[in-house]
Amino acid sequence: MNFKEIYEKSIKNPEDFWKSLSDDIFWYKKPTKILNSSNPPFYKWYEDGKTNTCYNALDLHVENGLGDNTALIYDSPITGNKAKYTFNELKSRVSKFAGALKNQGVEKGDRVVIYMPMVPEAVIAMLACGRIGAIHSVVFGGFASNELASRIDDSKAKILVTSSCGFEPGRTVEYRPLVDGALKLAKHKLKKVIFYQRKGHEIKLNSPMEISWDESLVNAKDTDCLEMNSNDYAYILYTSGTTGVPKGIVRDIGGHIVALKWTMKNIYNIDQGDVWWSASDIGWIVGHSYIVYAPLFKGCTTVLFEGKPVGTPDAGAFWKIISDYKVKSLFTAPTAFRAIKKEDPDGKFFSKYDLSKFESLFLAGERADPDTIKWAENLLKVPVIDHWWQTETSWAISSNCTGIEMMKTKYGSACKAVPGYDVKIIKSDKTLAKANEMGDIVVKLPLPPGTFPTLWNADKRYKENYMSNYKGYYQTYDAGHIDEDGYIWIMSRTDDIINVAGHRLSTGAIEEVLSEHKCVAECAVVGIADKLKGQLPIGLLTLKSGVDEDNENISKDCIKMVRDKIGPVAAFKIAIVVKRLPKTRSGKILRGTVRKIADKEDYKVPATIDDPKILDEIKEDLIKNNILK
Ligand code: COA
Ligand code: AMP
Repeated sequence: MNFKEIYEKSIKNPEDFWKSLSDDIFWYKKPTKILNSSNPPFYKWYEDGKTNTCYNALDLHVENGLGDNTALIYDSPITGNKAKYTFNELKSRVSKFAGALKNQGVEKGDRVVIYMPMVPEAVIAMLACGRIGAIHSVVFGGFASNELASRIDDSKAKILVTSSCGFEPGRTVEYRPLVDGALKLAKHKLKKVIFYQRKGHEIKLNSPMEISWDESLVNAKDTDCLEMNSNDYAYILYTSGTTGVPKGIVRDIGGHIVALKWTMKNIYNIDQGDVWWSASDIGWIVGHSYIVYAPLFKGCTTVLFEGKPVGTPDAGAFWKIISDYKVKSLFTAPTAFRAIKKEDPDGKFFSKYDLSKFESLFLAGERADPDTIKWAENLLKVPVIDHWWQTETSWAISSNCTGIEMMKTKYGSACKAVPGYDVKIIKSDKTLAKANEMGDIVVKLPLPPGTFPTLWNADKRYKENYMSNYKGYYQTYDAGHIDEDGYIWIMSRTDDIINVAGHRLSTGAIEEVLSEHKCVAECAVVGIADKLKGQLPIGLLTLKSGVDEDNENISKDCIKMVRDKIGPVAAFKIAIVVKRLPKTRSGKILRGTVRKIADKEDYKVPATIDDPKILDEIKEDLIKNNILK
C-alpha cells in the first residue's frame, strides 16, 4: 500500500488499523477490545490486553535469539568512557536493578523519580521500573531543585534514583546540593535516594535514607517482568504548561509499545539490527521515545551520547559517532546543526570521517529553518527531514514517512500528517480552515495509541486544557496552516511556551520566579529570535516605587534566581529594568508586541493600548541593551 492508502485506512477505520499493528508486539493476553470510546475525551486503547514494556524492549529479543546483538552503545566524549551492552547484558543488568528497587520497597504502580546524566544506568533504571510495573518520572538534569521538588511532590514518588554528578563542558554538575535542595523544598517525603556514584566523583552518603547504586545491587535478585494491564502507566513526564505548574503527561503501556514500534520502520525506515542514534537527553520526550523505547522495542542498537554537538571536543563529534558505530539515521534538534554550522560552516571536520552507512537525518523539537536544512543536505548528501511532535503525543504527528514512501521536501514544512492523526486547522471563528488558511492546529479525537490518555491525577485539567476549546478535537497549542498538498506548516505557539535550543520552556514559569524578587513590581518574559538556540527568553522588569537599589544588581539577582529555581536550561541571561510595561486599557501586558519589536518584525500599535508612547520607551531600552541594533 502507498502512503495515501495507509493514511486513509488509519483515519477511516482506526480500530482495524491499530488491531492489525498490535499483532507485532508481545502480549501475555492479546487485547480483544481495541478502542473504548464510551467516555470521551478519555479514550482507551487495548484495554483488556496484558503486556510489559521491558519485556518488549529486552526479553522478547533474547527469546528470539538476538541476545548477542548490541542493544545499547554508550559513548561519552566528555569523560572518555565507552561501553556496549548486548540484549543479554542489558536484560541482566535491568533485572538485577529491578530486584534492587523491589528491595527498597518499590511495588507495582509506585513512582520512581530518575534525575540523572546521560549514563547507561539511567536507561537501566527506566527499564527496571517497567519490568516491575513502577512508573518512572525522569527529570532533566538541567533543571534545578525547585523543578525536581515539584515533580517529587506531584508524583508522590517513593524513590529517587540520581547520581553523584553530571558533566557539562567546562563544569561538573554536582547533584548532591540540587537533590538536598529539592528534598528540603518537597512536602512529600521520599523513602530512599539511590545515588549512582561516578568513578572519581564519589560523594559521602547519609544513611539510612541514602544508598549507593552498587550497594543496592548487593542483595538484589534477578527479577522477572510483571504482567501489566495495557492501560496501566509506563511513565509520567512533566512538561511546561500554560502556568508555572508543570503538567504530568502520562503514557499507558500497550498503546505506547504498539505505536512506537510501528514508527521505527514506517517513519524512520529503521529495521531490527540497524544502528540508530537520537542525540537528545533522556529527560525529554525525544530521549524517552527514541533513545530508549522505540529502538529497543524494534530490536535496534541505540546510541546513548553524553556530549554536545560542539566543544566535546569539536564540531566533528557527531560525524565521529556516526562513523565509529555505522549509524544509519540520526534524530536531533535543528539547534544542534546550527551549532555545528556556526563552528564549521565549510564542513572541514565532516570530511575526516566515513559516513557511507548514513542514510537520513531527522529534525524536530522546533521549526527547522530552511537554511539549516539546506546546509545539512549539502554536507551530508542524505534526506534531511523535519517532523513535528510534542511530549503529549510521544511520537510524530507529521512527518515524511520514509519507510512507507519518500515524499518531496517543502522547506519550512514538517510534511504531512502521520497515519493515526487526523490533523485540521480551526480558524478564530471556530470554523475549519481551507487549504493555506491560518489557524489553531488541532487533531480529531480519538488520538492514536501512544499519545497521552490523561494528565497525572488531573483529568479535569486534561479535559479543560486540551479538549474543551474545540469539541471533539485535541488542541495542540501550535498554530499554522495546511497547504493544498496536505503539507503542515507549524508557525508559532498559541500559549506561553517558547523553544530554547529545542528545550520547551514556559515564559509564565520564568515570570513567576521574577515576580518573587523583592524589588520587582511587574514583569514580562518573551522569547526573542536567536540564531543558535531558535529562541531566547528576555525579561522586562518594572520596580516597586521607592526602590533605590542599582538596576544592574537587580537584573543580576533576577538572572541568578531563574538559574537557581528553574535551572541553567532556561538560558535566562537578559533582564532589563524598564520604566513601564506596555498594556491594554484592561491591563493585559502586550508581550506579543514587545516580541515583535525585539525581533524587528512589523507590528501594529494595538487599538486597545493604554499609552502608545511606552512602545518607544521599550524600543530605546532594547537598543541600550544591545538587543535591537
Ligand atoms: N545538566 C545540567 N546542565 C545542563 C544540562 C544537563 N543535562 N543540559 C544543559 N545544561 C546547561 C548547560 O550547561 C548550559 O549551562 P550554562 O548556562 O552554564 O552554559 C545551560 O544549561 C543551557 O544549555 P543549552 O541550552 O543546551 O545550551 P548550550 O549553550 O550548553 O549548548 C547546544 C547549545 C545547541 C549545543 C545544545 O543546546 C544542544 O546540543 N542541543 C541539542 C538539542 C537537544 O538536545 N534538544 C533536546 C530536545 S530534541
Ligand atoms: P516538546 O513537547 O518539548 O517536544 O515540544 C513540543 C513543541 O515543540 C511543539 O508543540 C512545537 O511548538 C515545537 N515543535 C516540535 N517539533 C517541531 C517542528 N518540527 N516544527 C515546528 N515546531 C516544532
